[in-house]
Amino acid sequence: MTNHEITPIDEIFDDEAAELYDMMYFNGDSFTTQTNELIVKHLEQAGAKNILDMSCGTGSQCIELSLAGYNVEATDLSNSMLKRAKEKAKLHNVDIKFKQADMKSVTTDECQGIISIFNSIGYLNKEDFATTLRNASNNLEPNGVFIFDTFHDKALAFIPAVEFVDCDIMIDKKHVKRFTKIFFNKTEGNCIITRRIEITEESGDLREINECVQFSVYEEQEMIDLVKENGFSSVEIVRQSMLELRSIKNSMNLVIAKK
Ligand SMILES: C[S@@+](CC[C@H](N)C(=O)[O-])C[C@H]1O[C@@H](n2cnc3c(N)ncnc32)[C@H](O)[C@@H]1O
Repeated sequence: MTNHEITPIDEIFDDEAAELYDMMYFNGDSFTTQTNELIVKHLEQAGAKNILDMSCGTGSQCIELSLAGYNVEATDLSNSMLKRAKEKAKLHNVDIKFKQADMKSVTTDECQGIISIFNSIGYLNKEDFATTLRNASNNLEPNGVFIFDTFHDKALAFIPAVEFVDCDIMIDKKHVKRFTKIFFNKTEGNCIITRRIEITEESGDLREINECVQFSVYEEQEMIDLVKENGFSSVEIVRQSMLELRSIKNSMNLVIAKK
C-alpha cells in the first residue's frame, strides 16, 4: 500500500470532482442531515450565531446553517468546490460570504462557531492539524466552539483492505462507478484510500480516474490531548455506535472543542 503516490489535493477537488461530488457522496443518504442536526444542537448550546465553515466544499453544511438562520461565512481551499457551493447558495437564495482560504490560516471576525465536516481535517498531517486548531481558537470569541469530524479509528480496523464498489450511479447520462480500497495503518496513525472511478459517457467512451488519498487518523486520547494543547479548554467526542457503522461514510466521530 505504501508505494502508492498520493494525489495532490487540488486534483482530488478539481472541477470534475466538484461536479460529481454531491451525487457520489450524498445521493439518497441522510449523512448530511444527521450531521447537520448534531452541529445545530451543539452550536445552539454554545449560543453561537456567527459561523465559519472552514472547509465548506460544495456547501453541504453551510447552506443548511444559513437556512436555519445562522450568519455564515464559508471558505475552502478548492475554488472548484467553492464555485459549486456558490451556485447552490444562489439556488437556495441564501446570503453566505464565500472566500478561498486554507483552514490553517483563514481569518474571520466575531465568530462563535467554526465547523469542518466530513473528515476535511483528515487531509491535514498532524502538525498542520495542530496549527489549524490554534488558528480556529484564535478566530473564536471566548466560549466559542469548533466542531469537526474525523474517522472512527476503531471502526476503520474492521474494514477489510479489499476493493469494493461504493458508488454506482447515472449522472447526466454518464455512468459513474467508483471502486474503493481502504487501508488503515494503525501504527502510522493514517489511512490510505485508493479510488478508481470509471466514467462511461453516453457515447460508450470510458475514462478512468485514479486517486490515492492519505488521511490522518487519531485515537481518542491523542485527539483530546491535541485539542487541549492547542487552544481549547474542553473537548467532547460523540463516538458513533459500532452498530451504526456500515460504511466508511458512517465511520465518523464528531469532536466538539470548546474554547
Ligand atoms: C470531503 S470534502 C467535505 C466538504 C463538505 N464539508 C462536505 O461535508 O461535503 C473536504 C473539503 O475539505 C477541503 N480542504 C482540504 N484541505 C483544506 C484546507 N487545508 N483548507 C481548507 N479546505 C480544505 C477540500 O477542498 C474539500 O472541499
